[in-house]
Amino acid sequence: MFPEQTQQDDIEIADIRKLTQLIKDKYGYDFKDYAMSSFKRRIKRVIEIYKFKSVDALIQRLDTQPSFFEEFVSEITVNVTEMFRDPTFWKALRDQIIPSILLNHNKISIWHAGCSSGEEVFSMNILLSEMGILDKAKIIATDIDTSIIEKAKKGAINIKNMEVNIKNYQRFGGVASLDKYYKEVDNIAYINRELVDSVSWRKHDLVQGPVFSKFDLILCRNVMIYFNQTLQNNVLYKLHESLFKYGYLAIGSKESLIWCDIANKFIVVNNEEKIYKKIKD
Ligand SMILES: C[S@@+](CC[C@H](N)C(=O)[O-])C[C@H]1O[C@@H](n2cnc3c(N)ncnc32)[C@H](O)[C@@H]1O
Repeated sequence: MFPEQTQQDDIEIADIRKLTQLIKDKYGYDFKDYAMSSFKRRIKRVIEIYKFKSVDALIQRLDTQPSFFEEFVSEITVNVTEMFRDPTFWKALRDQIIPSILLNHNKISIWHAGCSSGEEVFSMNILLSEMGILDKAKIIATDIDTSIIEKAKKGAINIKNMEVNIKNYQRFGGVASLDKYYKEVDNIAYINRELVDSVSWRKHDLVQGPVFSKFDLILCRNVMIYFNQTLQNNVLYKLHESLFKYGYLAIGSKESLIWCDIANKFIVVNNEEKIYKKIKD
């Protein structure tokens, strides 16, 4: 029975399997290979927030009310993000990676895979603008969560979150003051429209979605940390396929591709910042 399970702070794996199977059959998303402990925690959270009496009740709702599915996806994905998160990573992009891409091309295509509410993408646009090359860039930003993409398109950030964003920007060594790039209205920081509207924002699922283009640089940071090793491996194949030869892949500081099947098709260009270069098709 579920009440005892919650007291024991646990959900049966069989219940998780039933839930992920229903989602796959009905909605075409596959959460089976998300890292079990964090996925379970998120499911528990949904159960608490919506006051479901059991996992079965949640399954029943998902089965009978498709409009609930998007809310569910929003609740189970982790959307935590910051502008200029890991400032030394952004320094490496500005001083090492982007100049090396532009040595051989006069345009640059960038994919933010798992962009959340857009802070990473706004940071990229600010960086490109400060390098004077914003007009050379084609940027696509995707996420599985429709509502977070809608939020990103608004370019609206709670002013409370700007404190850390400003600190990160200063540590990155931005040439201006971050408030040059947004207007504050009623405790919301509205990012300047040209930094938002120049991006192609799309819903895309890294697990089941197709490879849809080729890029010089892919940022897929703090996304695969929520996947198990099998899924990380599968997604890394897709990311590899989505890169031009000699293109760059950046992952999160706690992630790695050293152990994955296609590790030999990349070289490490910046170990600290987890930036890799595709060297083989
Ligand atoms: C922690 S945020 C990372 C945001 C940003 N990349 C950063 O590092 O600050 C993880 C994002 O990955 C997205 N995500 C999770 N599973 C995904 C999937 N299968 N396909 C695409 N995005 C996914 C989540 O919705 C969430 O917005």
